[in-house]
Amino acid sequence: MKFFTVDSYEKMSRQAANIIAAQVISKPNSVLGLATGSTPIGTYARLGELCAQGDVDFSEVTTVNLDEYVGLPVENEQSYRYFMNKNLFSLINIDLAHTFVPNGCAPDIEKEVSEYDLRIERLGGIDLQLLGIGIDGHIGFNEPNDVFVKETHEVVLDPSTITANARFFEKEEDVPKKAVTMGMQAIMQAKKILMVVNGKKKEEILKKAFFGPITPQVPASILQLHPDVTVIYTEE
Ligand code: PGA
Repeated sequence: MKFFTVDSYEKMSRQAANIIAAQVISKPNSVLGLATGSTPIGTYARLGELCAQGDVDFSEVTTVNLDEYVGLPVENEQSYRYFMNKNLFSLINIDLAHTFVPNGCAPDIEKEVSEYDLRIERLGGIDLQLLGIGIDGHIGFNEPNDVFVKETHEVVLDPSTITANARFFEKEEDVPKKAVTMGMQAIMQAKKILMVVNGKKKEEILKKAFFGPITPQVPASILQLHPDVTVIYTEE
């Protein structure tokens, strides 16, 4: 594992964007696994700049996102599809038809989740997976659990996740109680993992995840078994 501590959110974002840009430059048809949340917004903005400068070309890239709330239509500003369109896809020259976010409004969620895994498999897996980490150790919406769940699946969100994400909604009751998330198999089979973490409040969980026991109670701890993980952390 490579662990970088940098002294600002700006530096974390630039470094993460450079790693993603390097991936796309060296393999123009890369499959990127993408994340939402407040942490990667700066990374995405920087990728937008790199693309505008002509340094990176996303025209052959395909993306698969980690997760989506259940029941929020794509027009809802809090849906992760809306987030991705706004914070990344509208800033780069990607073909929207090559961007995939689980459909949390699918009439048959079971079908949706199994098709999502099949899609990732057909794409040949993920070349680089960008991750954040939740205060409870979640990656995607893989919440603390008794087991590591392999496939894409529907989850009931942890109360701490609902509280943490309430800042994006008018009131906590508006945060959906369920979500769909990529499972551990697609994440662990990604060739490279890049995790961005900001804020002193994440330091404790970061230590547990990477230096504590590997346990589904700290979902990110499974990454200790991955051969190519880069973590960029800033206290800011
Ligand atoms: P955050 O979320 O970037 O908003 O802190 C990270 C996560 O929950 O994975």
